[in-house]
Amino acid sequence: MGAPPHPADRAGVTGGDAAPLTEILRRQIAQSGPLTVAEYMAAALGHPVHGYYTTRDPLGRAGDFTTSPEISQVFGELIGLWCADLWLRAGRPAPLRLVELGPGRGTLLADLWRAIGVVPGLREAVHLHLVETSPALRAAQAATLERAEAPPPQWHDHVADALSAAGQGPAIVLANEFFDALPIHQYIRSPAGWRERRVAWDEAQGGFAFGLDPAPSAGLVEVPEALRAAPPGSLVEVCPLAQSLMAEAARHVAAHGLAVLAIDYGHIQSAAGETLQALSGHAPADPLGDPGRADITAHVDFAALARAAVEAGGEVHGPITQAGFLGRLGLAARTQALAAARPDLAEETRAGTARLVDPAPTGMGALFKVLAVTPPGLVPAGFADG
Ligand SMILES: C[S@@+](CC[C@H](N)C(=O)[O-])C[C@H]1O[C@@H](n2cnc3c(N)ncnc32)[C@H](O)[C@@H]1O
Repeated sequence: MGAPPHPADRAGVTGGDAAPLTEILRRQIAQSGPLTVAEYMAAALGHPVHGYYTTRDPLGRAGDFTTSPEISQVFGELIGLWCADLWLRAGRPAPLRLVELGPGRGTLLADLWRAIGVVPGLREAVHLHLVETSPALRAAQAATLERAEAPPPQWHDHVADALSAAGQGPAIVLANEFFDALPIHQYIRSPAGWRERRVAWDEAQGGFAFGLDPAPSAGLVEVPEALRAAPPGSLVEVCPLAQSLMAEAARHVAAHGLAVLAIDYGHIQSAAGETLQALSGHAPADPLGDPGRADITAHVDFAALARAAVEAGGEVHGPITQAGFLGRLGLAARTQALAAARPDLAEETRAGTARLVDPAPTGMGALFKVLAVTPPGLVPAGFADG
């Protein structure tokens, strides 16, 4: 499929020291034509040998980015209490499958495990199921959970496997910064109409470059109805995988009880505009520059996730801001208690929780959104006031 460069496109020049994944993708493009952005992103993050997540633990100060559970223990603790509240209200079902999608280092689960210890019977009811494709991070999760004295979890490659392991029973599905790592498709409204954006190899520049499909693609049906009339030059991102995974999780909890909790950065309404970005060493990088060596993400379209959940029979709560959600769950009181218990760490404790709820540019409180899905008729904690 031909993909001449779009005028607004930039090329990711790789230089002479091509990484193995660059070589693999360059050859793939030479054989079969330019990749969709989703194919490129999936390979860059998840290639079984050279993918970004396959080869490393990218979290924390020494890595490329950090996340809420790594910033403050209060995050996982409050989510633990959120789960405990749902479990008590559901009549203490056992077993309760706790499924985490993309658990990183397992830090959220370790903090959650400590917090739920205050609720008699809950730890005994919980079966842990982790959906994780990265061998490096599975090892980190095992070590973290062992230190937390949590029971060994079951790992799965796919959400469907984790949910079917949950059988007909109730489940809580947690996803913090998972959906932003799923591959997106990009469509641009060219003078000839909507076309899918592709990743080609630019021989002259010696790097990857964006281009456009010459003809409409079948996937165009994914462009939300409300955005199809966007002006020429508009770019729309869609993530069919995020929608189908949300639908699977929502269908399960609608039928068998409890909830899905998705926390991520993104927009409340579907909107045009490019959000594809790469991070390396906590600094912005070119998404096409060095596949497999930088984190690549895109903002989550919460409206699309909500539509998928509703179509699957779930009731959607939010999205609301992370600041609103954590605030209602008692972030201030927990921070104060921790600071009083360890005055030597009080400043660090307060700085960590401030980062979770402050607005940009220093904090994640407004950019990050929280969406929950439950069976009809249940309002989970943190959402009651809208
Ligand atoms: C940005 S990290 C978030 C980690 C963790 N939730 C946290 O908040 O610290 C994304 C996580 O999702 C995992 N992941 C990415 N794509 C995945 C996929 N397609 N299937 C399963 N796990 C995936 C990564 O390996 C990693 O654990």
